Amino acid sequence: MRIVRTIAEIRAAVREAKRNDQSVGLVPTMGAFHEGHLSLMREARRNNDLVVVSLFVNPTQFGPNEDLSSYPRDEERDATLAEQEGVDLLFAPEPAEIYPDGFATNIHVAGITDVLDGAARGAHHFDGVATVVTKLFGIVAPDVAYFGQKDAQQVLVVRRVVRDLNLDVRIEACPIVREADGLAMSSRNVYLEPAARRQATALNRALDAAEAAVDKGERDGAAIEAAATRILEDAGIAPEYLELRDAEDLTPVTRLDRDALLAVAARVGAARLIDNHLLRAS
Ligand code: PAJ
Repeated sequence: MRIVRTIAEIRAAVREAKRNDQSVGLVPTMGAFHEGHLSLMREARRNNDLVVVSLFVNPTQFGPNEDLSSYPRDEERDATLAEQEGVDLLFAPEPAEIYPDGFATNIHVAGITDVLDGAARGAHHFDGVATVVTKLFGIVAPDVAYFGQKDAQQVLVVRRVVRDLNLDVRIEACPIVREADGLAMSSRNVYLEPAARRQATALNRALDAAEAAVDKGERDGAAIEAAATRILEDAGIAPEYLELRDAEDLTPVTRLDRDALLAVAARVGAARLIDNHLLRAS
């Protein structure tokens, strides 16, 4: 595996691969790899000739009061893990390579970014994601890019950018990878002290409870949300949001007559965690 820092180097490597008719898969990441990231790399490895992983803690998607400066960083460990997964190129640029002086463009997706994490974290968050992901697509020119369903709204935002700007890349969404006790893996789980770590399992248990209610025939949106809220309350968690929304356009779902996303965000101890389950209508 090669570690490259510049856009020129990554472009040269991809150009060479494409000359040889090789397919190129990209996994965009901010590092601090866990099994969730590694599952995307495996999927990319299975399906492409050249696998590129980008490692860039993108400053523009963090708010002024968020954890940009404390975000876990360990490039050496990440490089070892990526190499073990058979990644060909680790693209780890400095911020100035991505945002040189005078950088002035912002990609804003309207509508679906007004809710859930867009509302909770502010518009800058998905603007930052959409802009950096568009840049990564421009830099790497992958055939396929892999994203985790853990960040379900992010997947929808990226799909929308690709559709609206006619970007020539296929987006693959991969399942949420969880710890043995159900907690969705996240780079931010390292912020959890033991007690908060136990408390954090309530997020997935709450989503499970809602899903169980649906399995028993519940279709009322408020009742489905209430089944989840009860579990969070029992665990002493007041969520930032817990909402049932259309799985495609994120409009509110008052009756589960189409596939919906039950999405939750909560502060648990020192971490802000998100999770979601896709609830099927039939
Ligand atoms: P990051 O949080 O590092 O996540 C990189 C990718 O891993 C994302 O597509 C995310 O959804 C996926 N992922 C994280 N936890 C997962 C889990 N438990 N199971 C499955 N997939 C998981 O998301 C970002 O970085 C950034 O916003 C980025 C897209 C790189 C743009 O900066």
